[in-house]
Amino acid sequence: MHFNLFLHDTGHHEASWRLPGAHLHADMDVGYHEQLTRAAEAAKFDSVFLADSPQLWGHPGTRPSGKLEPLTLLTVLARVTQRIGLIATASTSYNDPYNLARRFASLDHVSGGRAGWNIVTTAGDDAARNFGLDTQPAHAQRYQRAAEFLEVSGKLWDSWEDGAVIADPESGVHADIGRIHTIDHAGRFFKVRGPLNVPRSPQGHPVLVQAGSSADGKDFAAHYAEAVFTAQQTLAEGQAFYADLKRRAALAGRDPDGVKILPGIVPVLGSTEAEAVALEAELDRLVLAEEARDRLARQLRVDPSQLALDAQLPDGLATEDEIEGAKSRYTLIVELARREHLTVRQLIGRLGGGRGHRTFTGTPEQVADTIEHWGAHGAADGFNVMPAVLPSGFELFAEHVVPLLQRRGLFRNEYEGTTLREHYGLPRPASRYAAAREPARQLA
Ligand SMILES: Cc1cc2nc3c(=O)[nH]c(=O)nc-3n(C[C@H](O)[C@H](O)[C@H](O)COP(=O)(O)O)c2cc1C
Repeated sequence: MHFNLFLHDTGHHEASWRLPGAHLHADMDVGYHEQLTRAAEAAKFDSVFLADSPQLWGHPGTRPSGKLEPLTLLTVLARVTQRIGLIATASTSYNDPYNLARRFASLDHVSGGRAGWNIVTTAGDDAARNFGLDTQPAHAQRYQRAAEFLEVSGKLWDSWEDGAVIADPESGVHADIGRIHTIDHAGRFFKVRGPLNVPRSPQGHPVLVQAGSSADGKDFAAHYAEAVFTAQQTLAEGQAFYADLKRRAALAGRDPDGVKILPGIVPVLGSTEAEAVALEAELDRLVLAEEARDRLARQLRVDPSQLALDAQLPDGLATEDEIEGAKSRYTLIVELARREHLTVRQLIGRLGGGRGHRTFTGTPEQVADTIEHWGAHGAADGFNVMPAVLPSGFELFAEHVVPLLQRRGLFRNEYEGTTLREHYGLPRPASRYAAAREPARQLA
């Protein structure tokens, strides 16, 4: 199985920073991120991952909300590790392909082939308002732009073939310009000539990760993603998502095994079940219920007065079709509440741990059993590990869950490769221009 550690300051539970001993400035502490990443590498994790959005995200009044820019932070982390993959989130709605393709190719060089890009379309009007817009572009349009963004990025990464750099001082030939290509892209959203100003990187291009689960999101993943982060609450939902995405990948002409599906799991660990349950109760006690209710109301697009803390969700909520932001997360929340007949207060507790990702409270054996069960029953190729409390939740996972999985033959004892692509068992892509070789127009 494959494991990614989702780095998130003091932990994924929104109240984790209020626990005794929490590192109150973890969000801005580079050394803290270095320690956690080294620990994930010692545990032989495939990768670490940073979420991101170009806006002040979260709730700065009541939770640490600072966000170091992911590619900058991962560049530092690349220099203090040797093997672990480094995945940064970046938006296709609020970037341009040339700049971003260049940054990811650079991280791939700096890290010796360990870069991954979590491709997101960025939901919500707040980010749009930082880029000259009043509202976000429509959901479908964001995904159309994302598809063209990936097409352009792919061409740019391919614009230098392997072997283009010759560096022969004797003959004076530094590069074979027959292997460097303009891309001459002209589409609906972008017009880009190329080539990139970074030679082909160790992995050919970074591992492409995707994290949206609407129908458009799944189609996008089926065409481009090599790994998918997803939030799934039940085994049945996880199995349905897994089968659907693998089917869509096959329909898109790809090997379904070339898309690794990694649901999120929020472990709340204790050495006994009672200890884990007590930690969960303590975390839930520290959640600010009214504020969480107001936030839920914004997500559900209702007035907070419609959400009584000790009643179930009201009828007449919007359908997924009416949501222009994060469609699949909206549906997940409403279905979770309805399926389990949760009151608003209970729903807030369930979302407090991992914002809709599956929380699992128990002993290391129980967590290992669940992971094994999901893997054996067609719901996961691995997991996006999101400890409720960091660093302690990760330390427990590394010390107690990982060895159990290793003993069961489900997880590596040692890295076999050096690149993220090799950890995931993904092929290294060839440049599309290698077959039809034409010299770059402006260079010839
Ligand atoms: C594990 C995980 C991590 C995500 N990280 C980010 C992120 O860092 N930034 C972001 O804008 N969206 C992030 N998303 C949200 C998705 O990219 C997407 O915007 C959202 O799920 C809505 O997509 P959909 O409308 O296709 O469902 C994440 C989703 C998941 C499951």
